Amino acid sequence: MMLENQAELKIAADAAALAREAASEFAKCAEAAVAQRGRFSVALSGGNTPRAVNELLAEQYKNSLPWEKIFFFFGDERHVPPTHPDSNYRMANESLFSRAPVPPENVFRMQTELAADRAAQKYEDALRQFFQLPAGSWPQFDLIFLGLGDDGHTASLFPGTAALNESSRLVVANPVEKLKTDRITFTFPVLNHAREVLFLVAGGGKAPILREVLRPSNGATYPAQMVHPEGGRVLWLADQEAARLL
Ligand code: 6PG
Repeated sequence: MMLENQAELKIAADAAALAREAASEFAKCAEAAVAQRGRFSVALSGGNTPRAVNELLAEQYKNSLPWEKIFFFFGDERHVPPTHPDSNYRMANESLFSRAPVPPENVFRMQTELAADRAAQKYEDALRQFFQLPAGSWPQFDLIFLGLGDDGHTASLFPGTAALNESSRLVVANPVEKLKTDRITFTFPVLNHAREVLFLVAGGGKAPILREVLRPSNGATYPAQMVHPEGGRVLWLADQEAARLL
């Protein structure tokens, strides 16, 4: 289904079907990118929803994807050590990297053992190097996974935070007052230069925010609505519970 802002919406029967659909989309993007450009650059999102997708990729696509040509990044990270239960890297390592033949050098972890600003700068440097970016240009990821928080945040671009207004940096440390913590996150220009953005939204708890983001009715605006890559594709994948108010 096409939405007003040219994004696409696909509704899966349940969370398991959503994971299958997301894994299939990942595989399609990976095969196309490798065929056209010799490699696939993907940024993973954190939280809970992606875990089932990661596990499915490791189980169902273990022998069919060109893992040595797939390069993994993170759209955001919590400012905790990589072994911490809240770490997005730890979740991805447990659910995917440790279960599929992903070369360790193909995984670009945010070095959250450093101060948040330093970790953000080093990640930005790593992006510039990987994409061989001239000054003033933006990386073009083949695929960026995103989630949707019930306050309308995506990546670690939370309502009312400084990172929402960043227009020159690729990666920033972003203090999130309501969580009493720093996050490290891609900025909107990076999200909005992607070839494809895939939002994953599951569960009835997300129904109200998904409706407001996709079919605004209260005049409020949300960070997730600021994701509209020029010339890129935005696909919203939701399960029926999350989509029940649409
Ligand atoms: C994070 C994520 C964040 C997440 C949403 C949805 O680091 O937490 O990047 O943006 O995608 O909060 O999280 P769930 O999938 O757990 O609902």
